Amino acid sequence: MKKNRRAFLAHSAKAIAAATITASLPPFLYASSKRNDTIGLALIGANSQGNWNLVQALKQPGVECIAVCDIDDAVLAKRIPEIEKIQGKKPLQYKDHRKMLENKDIDAVIIGTPDHWHCIQLVDAVMAGKDVYVEKPIANSIYECDQMVKAVRRSKQVVQVGQQQRSGDHWKSAMDFMKDGKLGDLRKINIWANFNYGIGRPKMPDSAVPVGVDFDRWLGPAPQRSFNKTRFHGSWRMFWNYGGGLMTDWGVHLMDMALWAKDTKDLPMSVSGTGGNFAFPDHAHETFDTISVQYAMPGYNISYEHSAGIQTGPYGKSYGLAFVGNN
Ligand SMILES: NC(=O)c1ccc[n+]([C@@H]2O[C@H](COP(=O)([O-])OP(=O)(O)OC[C@H]3O[C@@H](n4cnc5c(N)ncnc54)[C@H](O)[C@@H]3O)[C@@H](O)[C@H]2O)c1
Repeated sequence: MKKNRRAFLAHSAKAIAAATITASLPPFLYASSKRNDTIGLALIGANSQGNWNLVQALKQPGVECIAVCDIDDAVLAKRIPEIEKIQGKKPLQYKDHRKMLENKDIDAVIIGTPDHWHCIQLVDAVMAGKDVYVEKPIANSIYECDQMVKAVRRSKQVVQVGQQQRSGDHWKSAMDFMKDGKLGDLRKINIWANFNYGIGRPKMPDSAVPVGVDFDRWLGPAPQRSFNKTRFHGSWRMFWNYGGGLMTDWGVHLMDMALWAKDTKDLPMSVSGTGGNFAFPDHAHETFDTISVQYAMPGYNISYEHSAGIQTGPYGKSYGLAFVGNN
């Protein structure tokens, strides 16, 4: 086929742009970059981690934030101008993610909402033909995780989960060290996560829903409940209907490293644990501030424990893993 010079240049420029775009893209954006010159990205849940993820994604060439969805007007009012400043173009704003997903300019979405929303929003997003970066933990129950996996497998979409330690060089070299046999047989992995934030915020009385907050859409699939600031932005993770406390919030990152060490796909042969709320009665939390769990794995043990509110632990570290081998 003959090509004139202009068409050739246009084609080459596209090819170079595509090569630049794809060089460093995370998988959920890489998929869209194969189809488009510009990747239309959207964010659901913009207060904290979702926004962080978006700002990182916007550092990649060829990525544009098309829209932001949040149930809180105050969050939207803060984030929209910040994003406009970064990319020189104002994103659209939505309070209902279903409406936003109808937008055909959106190729991929980041889900940065509280954990009790991940399942519904991920399923909605892949059914709408969007690739997804969903924050950890994937969801709050095995049932929800199963529904998510089924929905993703039925779709053609690429989904990535926010277990960012998988991309960390020091974690990778620790895994290589063990997989090269330098620890000998791995017998035991001890995990701890003793963060202060696990005790929640100081207790306060219920109050009126703040103006501009669609609290019904914040609760979503969770039971009806009064509004209380200690159960809202950030600190919801210490309440059973929304999260699982320190164990699913930070423990999930560490447990992921423990499973990576042996690339295990096995379920534990048995699990036993105890825990409770033994400290900080003046702070609002339902999830346990104190936990010890033992997982019997084939040929090795994993133990997980946390003591929220002490912010230190073995080796002087507030969180970590100790891998115990024969060597
Ligand atoms: N990977 C990490 O290291 C890391 C770190 C922090 C948080 N996270 C994860 O990120 C997610 C968000 O945590 P966070 O600390 O940013 O929470 P946050 O409470 O600060 O922010 C959540 C945002 O979602 C919004 N929201 C709630 N329901 C919504 C809905 N139905 N539609 C649209 N917006 C909605 C809230 O208004 C809020 O702005 C959680 O899943 C958390 O586990 C991951």
